Formats: sequence, structure tokens, C-alpha cells
Amino acid sequence: MHTVTAENPLQHLDDWDDYVASRYKEGKAEEEFRNYDAEANPGVAEFYRVNHANQTFDFVLEKRKEYLGLTRGKKSIWEAADYLNTLVDDSDPDTDLTQIEHLLQTSEAIRKDGHPRWMILAGLIHDLGKTLCLYGEPQWAVVGDTFPVGCAYSDQIVFPEYFAANPDSKVPEYQTKYGIYKPNCGLDNVYLSWGHDEYIYQVAKPYLPEPALYMLRYHSFYPAHKHGAYKHLMTAHDEEMFDWVRKFNPYDLYSKGAAKPNLKELKPFYDDLIAEYFPEKIDW
Ligand SMILES: [Fe+2]
Ligand SMILES: [Fe+2]
Repeated sequence: MHTVTAENPLQHLDDWDDYVASRYKEGKAEEEFRNYDAEANPGVAEFYRVNHANQTFDFVLEKRKEYLGLTRGKKSIWEAADYLNTLVDDSDPDTDLTQIEHLLQTSEAIRKDGHPRWMILAGLIHDLGKTLCLYGEPQWAVVGDTFPVGCAYSDQIVFPEYFAANPDSKVPEYQTKYGIYKPNCGLDNVYLSWGHDEYIYQVAKPYLPEPALYMLRYHSFYPAHKHGAYKHLMTAHDEEMFDWVRKFNPYDLYSKGAAKPNLKELKPFYDDLIAEYFPEKIDW
């Protein structure tokens, strides 16, 4: 458990993931999670407050420049996963899954349902972008539901009231429906708030088929894949690919709680799978 600070109000990075999972628990009325108690989840509410206040258009451009050149060295998929695992070494081993365990539970659940091999692989690597935390990024620049910057905020984004503190909310050019974008310009031309999705997408881009890349890049884009927001920026092709993002989401949210995966037993299968798509080391 790290020390909670103003910059990092979550006790664990995964508190955000757990919150999202509970928000979409089956049967939970939309209303219920809308008011979803800043009170019951003070750390999470505070997390969204700093996220919404600080994810500006300029911030996103700055982080893209900083990271998307992939100049942080070469690592294999396993090396990146081991590195990410150091993030939670200090958490309670009895109650918390390690990062690798969450990745394997996701990929194993996909595998059990007979989905394509590249989708299993997407499950295995989808959160490796969280290594951003280990490069010193605050929680609000690593996790959180993503949303477009440079145009009006959808009211389908959780805690929309916190955007009032974002400097972009005072820039009229950024607050029209389309903002700096053209109608149906395609998500590839839209800047989303910065986080672990875009980073792992750029890392994996040369190697995986398109639907897998959509899963990586948009798995935290809940306003769009869960609420249907921002269709006016999407192409028909984006919408088609979002069927895959939606197919992926339950494995991310609800594969927790199953038995802890046995890495040693599973490793040969994943060694083969990784080698099928990736060279030994890739740029991060
Ligand atoms: Fe994620
Ligand atoms: Fe995840």
C-alpha cells in the first residue's frame, strides 16, 4: 500500500479498475452509479477530480511526445510484465492480485471461451501500459476512463462536474460538439486523455491484428464503448471495431475472483503465443 498523496489518492492503482467493475455490475441501474457515492469512494472520487482537472489537450500532446517515440528501451513481454509486477510488491498478497495475475486471468477467461489467439494475447498484455506509473506518472495520467480532449466533454463521462476545474473548459474552441475535429473524422484522428491504453497500443501496433489493437487502445474508453458517446467522431469502421472492444470488456472487468492462475503451468502456452506475434524484444 503506498502513501496516499494529493497526486495519488488511490491506495492501489487497481482501485480504479475495481470501481469500474462495481459500477457496471449487472443489474445496477444507471442512476445508481451516476450518484455513485463520492461518499462511499472518497479516494476514487478524488482520483477523478484530479484526473478531470489535469487532463488537458496540451498535457496529452506533451505526454504523447514524451512516450510515443518508445525510447525507454527494449523488453520482452515477460520482462515488461515482471517490471509492472514491481508496482504492487508492497500490497497485501492475500487480497490483491498481482498485475500478472490480472493479466493471466483475463487472457485465460478469453481462452476458455474459445476466442482467437490474438484476442488471448490482447488479454495478456492489455494493462502493460501501466508501467507508466513506474516512470513516475501520477495515477491520474495512467488509469481512469478515457475521453477525447479538444472537444466538448460528454455527460456520459463519470463525474462530469469535475471538468469545471479543467483549464480547457474555458477554451471556447475546445467546448463545441466537434471542437478541433471534423464530423466522423475517425478515432485515429482524435486525442484521448493520456493513459495506459494509448501507450500499450503504440508499443503493440506493429505486431497485432487490428481488432486486438482496438481492444488495447480503447479498453478504458467507457463513455464510448459502454455508453455510445462520441459516435459523431467515429467512422463506420470504428463502430464495427468497437464490437470487439465490447467483447473484450467483460473479461477485463469480471475475470477477477477466479482461482489464481498458475504461471508456471501456463507459461509454455504463452511463450508460444507471444512468439507467434512478437519478436523476442520490442521497444517500450
Ligand atoms: Fe486497463
Ligand atoms: Fe485490466
